[in-house]
Amino acid sequence: MARYALKVNGKPRSVDADSDTPLLYVLRDNLALRGPRFGCGLGQCGACTVHVNGEAVRSCMLPVSAVKGDITTLEGLGSVAQPGKLQQAFITEQAAQCGYCANGMIMTSAALLARNRNPSETEIRDALAGNLCRCGTHQRIVAAVKRAAST
Ligand code: FES
Ligand code: FES
Repeated sequence: MARYALKVNGKPRSVDADSDTPLLYVLRDNLALRGPRFGCGLGQCGACTVHVNGEAVRSCMLPVSAVKGDITTLEGLGSVAQPGKLQQAFITEQAAQCGYCANGMIMTSAALLARNRNPSETEIRDALAGNLCRCGTHQRIVAAVKRAAST
């Protein structure tokens, strides 16, 4: 067990955890940030995606001791009262059915839009190819990302 100083959504946070604890567990269990979801725990579904220094990473596969840089979670993009641009676009396009994949879809899309303000549909689909949605809302998710890109 060791103490780790993290910066999460712009705020300094201190957590006590074993060095191999996945960042996902630290965010959800220590810091009560429930945006990132546990899906597969194997880096294969994308439900746990967060940003580290603006890059989309799978927090289930990243030990807390290996985190180097600022962390942004879904909560850092907006709130229920004040949703961010992508979050609002997902609401407007009704891009969630069960919603379990939405965190990963939004965080991966946010990283895409940060490096490419106007992605083509192919670029959106390529960026999201590793994010799984069991409900089949892919068309609406792509529409939501397009909407966010155009606003
Ligand atoms: S829970 Fe991390 S990729 Fe599936
Ligand atoms: S909306 Fe259910 S997994 Fe994507």
